[in-house]
Amino acid sequence: MKAVITGSGFEAVGLGNMAAEHQPSSSLGNASDKILELEIGGNNFLWLRRHGADSAIAPHRINYRANIQALSELGATEIIAVNTVGGISGGCQSGCFVVADQIMDLSWGRDSSFFDGEYLPLQHIDFTHPFDQELRSNLLSCAGLLSMNAIDGGTYACTQGPRLETAAEIKALESLGADIVGMTVMPEAALARELDIAYASICPVINRAAGLSDRLLVEAEIRAQAGHMMGSVVELIRRLVETG
Ligand code: HPA
Repeated sequence: MKAVITGSGFEAVGLGNMAAEHQPSSSLGNASDKILELEIGGNNFLWLRRHGADSAIAPHRINYRANIQALSELGATEIIAVNTVGGISGGCQSGCFVVADQIMDLSWGRDSSFFDGEYLPLQHIDFTHPFDQELRSNLLSCAGLLSMNAIDGGTYACTQGPRLETAAEIKALESLGADIVGMTVMPEAALARELDIAYASICPVINRAAGLSDRLLVEAEIRAQAGHMMGSVVELIRRLVETG
């Protein structure tokens, strides 16, 4: 079954018909929220809000392990993640969508593995290509059908947050090859890989990253841009679920 994890600014208006409501409980602590099972065109899928129902859980405080474990236990085999980002490389302007193909992880202090030698015995997974290629292709073809401005590939630098970056940090990330910057794709993507769940991310670019425009970053403006872009994301998810 498909699962969708959404982040900031996502309004689920018209996402699907309610089929069931799950209250996950886990030895790894609480998931961010209840998990809704929704239906579109006879296909059921799971939906979880990463930051909780009232969007109050900061990126570094999310219990990523409980979220991924709960989705896995409910039968998720594919996760479509929505991760809003700032744009770094020239092609990644506010208003476009990036279907990332690489990750640079700069987050720290997050519980980032099931294979930590406590919950499960130590194991080193392959993570050369962190996103599932087939799911990426499906996202890109649905985005194409909807005439969304979607970019195929890009390196996502995951920072700790919740503060935004300094101009020097963004310069450094740019020179390292990052195209976009966000706070939530890790450890989510790695945890999904550890449980054999295909994972791909659609990244709405909601601002130019720090120091790359002549303006300071204003949270209300960033949030408003996220809100503007979520209608297309809802359409994209609907199309993806409809196609089975
Ligand atoms: N930096 C980090 N995370 C983000 C940004 C940003 O500029 N925009 C949206 N999420």
